[in-house]
Amino acid sequence: MSLEVIGSVIKIAEIAPNIYDMLIKTDMAYKCKPGQFANILCEGGNALLRRPISICNAGNNMVKIIFEKKGEGTKLLSEYKEGQNINMLIPLGHGFDLGDYKNPVIVGGGIGVPPLLYLAESVNNPSIFLGFRSKSNIILKDEFEKCGKTVISTDDGSFGHGGLITVPLKTHLENNKCDVIMACGPTPMLKGIAALAKEFGIPCQVSMEQRMACGIGACLVCACKTKNKDGENFSHVCKDGPVFDAAEVFFE
Ligand SMILES: Cc1cc2nc3c(=O)[nH]c(=O)nc-3n(C[C@H](O)[C@H](O)[C@H](O)COP(=O)(O)OP(=O)(O)OC[C@H]3O[C@@H](n4cnc5c(N)ncnc54)[C@H](O)[C@@H]3O)c2cc1C
Ligand code: FES
Repeated sequence: MSLEVIGSVIKIAEIAPNIYDMLIKTDMAYKCKPGQFANILCEGGNALLRRPISICNAGNNMVKIIFEKKGEGTKLLSEYKEGQNINMLIPLGHGFDLGDYKNPVIVGGGIGVPPLLYLAESVNNPSIFLGFRSKSNIILKDEFEKCGKTVISTDDGSFGHGGLITVPLKTHLENNKCDVIMACGPTPMLKGIAALAKEFGIPCQVSMEQRMACGIGACLVCACKTKNKDGENFSHVCKDGPVFDAAEVFFE
């Protein structure tokens, strides 16, 4: 069961332009699984609705989140100070199925990279592919490299492979065993990864983003069309996801 909890900000730092790393003390940390998220009340301004932010890592009564300052809510969150209380619904959603995979591949893009760190630490020897806009946007490189072989791409070629991360991913799939792909990032990237998974016949789990309000399946704001063997359905990204089987998702 998810609970409203009051955590305490232990540390907050800007780790890349407009990207903030926040460490929160909460005794709910032990309940958080890779791929789950917190719905956070961003206090001090006019952001009435909570904002969903993924769990980047959890343990030892601490939860780490990493977020991009985009609009009112995340701006308010970026102004939180060490020692300040933070109101969260946590943990929410359906995270990654960790299974017992022998050759998992993890793929992240942009601000979809942080939620994959906890996953990378929780699975067996992952191969990791991370895409960023530019060298200055690269985050968590050292942390991921501790978990497994990590390939990085930048859109502008300023670091690692130049271009889309799906290019080195495809080369990897052509030359190595892979029994699952787990991904989080922008929808066009997820769509490309889902197509590769289909081409290579590999199960694929994707973490989807959708505007949210309640975060607990009560308001329908996050409804999205999905498909399964019985046909088309509506799913709540907050409750049925955010992680879905890629074969069930419409990526439009
Ligand atoms: C399950 C889930 C996990 C997420 N995890 C993270 C995370 O770990 N780190 C992170 O930085 N962001 C994450 N997001 C996105 C984050 O919730 C939004 O960026 C945030 O709510 C924007 O709020 P705001 O008030 O700052 O901006 P707003 O003023 O509300 O919006 C600013 C811009 O962001 C877009 N936007 C707002 N909400 C979303 C959304 N849910 N999905 C896509 N675009 C949106 C708007 O269309 C607008 O262009 C996650 C979203 C979901 C659904
Ligand atoms: S955000 Fe309310 S149902 Fe998903």
